[in-house]
Amino acid sequence: MSVKPYRLYCADCLEQLKEIPENTFDMIFADPPYMLSNGGISCQSGKVVSVNKGGWDKSQGFEKDFEFHKQWLELCKRVLKPHGTLWVSGTYHSIYSCGFALQLLGYHILNDISWFKPNASPNMSCRYFTASHETLIWVRKDKDSKHIFNYEAMKNGSFPKDFLKKADTQMRSVWAIGTPAMSEKSHGKHPTQKPIDLLERIILASTNPGALILDPFMGSGTTGVAAIKLGRKFVGIEKEQLFIELAEKRLYDATISAGE
Ligand SMILES: C[S@@+](CC[C@H](N)C(=O)[O-])C[C@H]1O[C@@H](n2cnc3c(N)ncnc32)[C@H](O)[C@@H]1O
Repeated sequence: MSVKPYRLYCADCLEQLKEIPENTFDMIFADPPYMLSNGGISCQSGKVVSVNKGGWDKSQGFEKDFEFHKQWLELCKRVLKPHGTLWVSGTYHSIYSCGFALQLLGYHILNDISWFKPNASPNMSCRYFTASHETLIWVRKDKDSKHIFNYEAMKNGSFPKDFLKKADTQMRSVWAIGTPAMSEKSHGKHPTQKPIDLLERIILASTNPGALILDPFMGSGTTGVAAIKLGRKFVGIEKEQLFIELAEKRLYDATISAGE
């Protein structure tokens, strides 16, 4: 890696992951397509909009979607260090498929986290409960590996924006974290951008300073921004050039702020 604490690949992760040596990464965070851009409606800034995140987010049908998840999860297992861990985020459109693939591939499940979004958009049809959470599955490479969990940092860390976390109590598996603030979109928008606070918590919990972290579906680079802020190194793979450019700007700023 060059002096920069990050390296980006504009590529399909199904191809790029095959080029990376095995046992390279301490941790992998993956926010794969949720396959939910299929003509539904949602609410944005008080307006009804169609759910269309982009061609990359369209379902190819249950079986093909499952094959896709199994494929990238298998490639990630090869590049994960023996004691490394992997996180996958999703909603019901994708998370069961990812969970089944993880189990088939011999990963060992450590937790599933409910990320509760107190400021989630309202439901426009008024025929369902308002979707206000996503699920994160946290796994280690296999049953016998020894993963990192920074228990004290989670118990005694400061999480002022999370009203579910009281001082000096164990970190539980329901996290209340808002969607990204406008200040996190100063270089442009990604339709499914994750909040920095969420990635900081994940990285603090499951890695040590200096760790090498991979995000195979990098989007706007949120994982990388949090990694650099916390003194970790980052590799991102993203197939859309527009998002690579957005991530580059965010990672450059993060590197300057971290004094690298
Ligand atoms: C859910 S978004 C990730 C958003 C990201 N967590 C963030 O905070 O900005 C998924 C991203 O994966 C990219 N993508 C989809 N399929 C891909 C593939 N096969 N290889 C690499 N990137 C892919 C999409 O272009 C999209 O930007």
